[in-house]
Amino acid sequence: MPAKPASPRQRYDAFSMTLHWITALSVIFLFASAHIWEQLEKGTPLRKGLQAWHISFGILLALVMIVRPLWRIYSQRNSQLAVTPAENSVAMRVMAHAVHGALYLLLFLQVALGFMFRWSQQEPFQFFGLFNIPLIYVDPALRHTLGGLHNNVAWALIVLAGAHALAALFHHYVMRDNVLRRMLPLRDSVPLREDK
Ligand code: HEM
Ligand code: HEM
Repeated sequence: MPAKPASPRQRYDAFSMTLHWITALSVIFLFASAHIWEQLEKGTPLRKGLQAWHISFGILLALVMIVRPLWRIYSQRNSQLAVTPAENSVAMRVMAHAVHGALYLLLFLQVALGFMFRWSQQEPFQFFGLFNIPLIYVDPALRHTLGGLHNNVAWALIVLAGAHALAALFHHYVMRDNVLRRMLPLRDSVPLREDK
C-alpha cells in the first residue's frame, strides 16, 4: 500500500521528539538527583557529584528550553513539519493546551530559579566540567527563599508532568488513539491507528 502523504503531519518531527524526551528525562533526573543527595551525608563525593550533575543537566535543560519554543513556532509555520491537532473533543484540546502551557511556564520558572539559587551561593560552577558559567551577583540573603521556591516549583512540575504522562498513557491504553504514538520514535512501517 502506498505511504500516506507527509503533510498534514500526524506525528511530531524527529527534532521535536528529541527535545521532548530530553526535557522529560532531564526533569526526572533533576528531581530524582536532588532527592537522592538529600539522603546522603554532607561532603561525600557522591553527594557532591550528584549536585554537579544536577547543575549540568539543569543548564542542558535551559538550552533545550531556549531552542524548543523557537523550533515549535518555526515547525508549526512550516507545512512539512506542522502537526495536525490530535483527534479529540474541543474540551480535551483546551485541557491539553492548558497543561502544555503550564508545563512550559513551570519549566522556564524552574530554570530561572535554579540559576538564581546557584548564583546566590556565590561559588563557581561548570557545564559537565567543560567550561565555567559566569557568576552574576545575587544577594546571598535570598538563598533560603530561592531554595524554598525552587523546591516548591519542582513538586508542582513533577505532579503536573506525572498527570500529563498518565493522560498520555490513558489515551494509548484506554482510548486507544494516536496521542502517545505521535510523540514516539516509531518506524514508518508502524502505522498510526485508523481514526475512529
Ligand atoms: C516528565 C516531564 C515531561 C514534560 C516536562 C513534558 C512536557 C510536554 C510538553 C510541554 C508538551 C507539549 C508539546 C511540545 O511543546 O512539544 C508535551 C507533549 C507530549 N508529551 Fe510530554 N512531557 C513530559 C513527559 C512525558 C511522558 C513521560 C510522556 C509519555 C508517557 C509524555 C507524552 C507526551 C505526548 C504524547 C505529547 C504530545 C501530545 C499531543 O500531541 O497533543 N510526556 N509534553
Ligand atoms: C526541572 C528542573 C529542575 C528541578 C525539577 C530541580 C529540582 C531541585 C530540587 C528538588 C532541589 C532540592 C531543593 C531543596 O531541597 O531545597 C534542587 C536543588 C538545587 N538545584 Fe535544582 N532543579 C531543576 C533545575 C535546576 C537548574 C536549571 C539549576 C541551575 C543551573 C538548578 C540548581 C540547583 C541548585 C544549585 C540546588 C541546590 C544544591 C545544593 O544544595 O547545593 N536546578 N533542585
